[in-house]
Amino acid sequence: MDFTGRDLIRGEPEKVITEKVDYLKDIGVCAVWLSPVLKSPQLDFGYDVSDFKQIDPIYGTMQDFDRMIDKFHKAGTKVLLNFVPNHTSNMHDWLKKSVKRINPYTDYFIWKDAKYVDGVRSPPNNWVARFTGPAWEWNDQRQQYYLHQFLVEQPDLDYRNPKVHDEIKDVMDFWLKRGLDGFRIDAICFIYERADFADEPESGEAGFVPTDYSYWKHVCTRDQPENVDLAKELEEFVNSYKKTESDTPKILLLECYGPPSVVMPFYGNDTRIGAAFPFNFNMLDYMNRESDVQAIKDMIAIWLANMPEGKWANWVISNHDRVRIATRMDNMLLDGIHMLQMVLPGTAITYYGDELGMEDTYVRWDQATDTFALNVGPDRFTLFDRGPSRSPFPWDDSKNAGFSDGPDLWLPINPNYWMNNMKLQTKRKSHLKTYQALATLRKSATFIYGDADVFVISKWVLALSRSYKDHPTYIVVINFNSYTETVDLLKDRPTLPHNLNVQLSSLNASINEGNLVKTNSIVLRPKAALLLTTARNDEN
Ligand code: GLC
Repeated sequence: MDFTGRDLIRGEPEKVITEKVDYLKDIGVCAVWLSPVLKSPQLDFGYDVSDFKQIDPIYGTMQDFDRMIDKFHKAGTKVLLNFVPNHTSNMHDWLKKSVKRINPYTDYFIWKDAKYVDGVRSPPNNWVARFTGPAWEWNDQRQQYYLHQFLVEQPDLDYRNPKVHDEIKDVMDFWLKRGLDGFRIDAICFIYERADFADEPESGEAGFVPTDYSYWKHVCTRDQPENVDLAKELEEFVNSYKKTESDTPKILLLECYGPPSVVMPFYGNDTRIGAAFPFNFNMLDYMNRESDVQAIKDMIAIWLANMPEGKWANWVISNHDRVRIATRMDNMLLDGIHMLQMVLPGTAITYYGDELGMEDTYVRWDQATDTFALNVGPDRFTLFDRGPSRSPFPWDDSKNAGFSDGPDLWLPINPNYWMNNMKLQTKRKSHLKTYQALATLRKSATFIYGDADVFVISKWVLALSRSYKDHPTYIVVINFNSYTETVDLLKDRPTLPHNLNVQLSSLNASINEGNLVKTNSIVLRPKAALLLTTARNDEN
């Protein structure tokens, strides 16, 4: 599960940590990835690190952190730290020394001389940063520009300098020695730039201005082949921490958006023994209110067909950079989406709060904290602001939803927290209960080893079945339509029994778990879903 550090470490550490560890274990989470908790001026939610070996004081101390790791491990939960190799904060000591050309830091960052046209200083090329505006920042003291693919305050490290590789491995070593189980590697597709620093062409995409990132086609600043080499180098490095056969390998989750040709090479080949895999963002990128079932089936098939033989899939439905799934699709569809995500073969990655069906929360201009959004000004900030999907987790109906006792929060909490929160969802049929039941079920052999078959029942009804040897078969049926649908599964799968048992039903399905349905006439309300099984009640 992808979890914000603020929810885990902040507050009264001992109490907060203990409670939250139990909650995550109870709902079946096996590993937690923390959003950045390292020392940072927090201009980019901590993705601007000013010291890779310290915990930011807003989250607590290193002792709090160690205690948290210990609690997680006692509960059998793995902990992954977010790691940002592409850049540091401009407050990092390495940059300060690089500005002064103090060795060995002189060439830690990507410095370039200015171009002068008619005596006027300009950046070395036309590159635009991911967070808008020129990707170059002039430094008066050093009399050169530095490259920043994200914020001005996030200078890019230069990976053509071998010393930078040593530094980041030293940082990884620091955390692995503290017992960390792996890392989520940030922005791996941005690490290298083309060595000739050529200008980038226009993308031709409508609706963007030249200072916008999408106005340009990023052929020189993204997806360079050396990024894959670096991933391999890091994977081999973390593999060296697996000392005995029985040690679990350290995990690396690699953040890279793109088509299979760009993403799949990060899986590496069979000779690599480690547990590194690229995130599968297909559900984030291609699943929305307009998607029909054929589109969803294709999106799933594309990942599975392109994944190298013998590798393990994963499915991401929300994250801290995108609109949440319940807002992007429909809150009523959430149990169905979880059934799909958790019944498909592979790791299900949950962004905190998705298990409750948390929706985006409107963030006003005066409340915005995302520098990306603040940089574009009040008229366009909502196009870029990532605050709405980052609002605090609603633990209960007490003040500030139990997130903090303070006078205000770092972002507004959803005003519906008093009627929809974690505590209430433990007491009634809820998204949380469905999530929890799925997490338990997917530990059984059928879900780990079984065949998966995704099939289109109609334009808006999708089915997914998992079967394994002589174990019971499981079938998910989801109605993506806005109207009630009657489904005949026998038409497509005539060998199925004439009645199926309801293992799980979505919040809106109006069919109780444990009931039987007729395989040839399953009635599904709009956005409702069922997980059916050939098992009899007493077999489960
Ligand atoms: C990644 C993170 C995003 C961050 C950016 C720069 O894309 O997910 O939140 O702003 O990298 O580090």
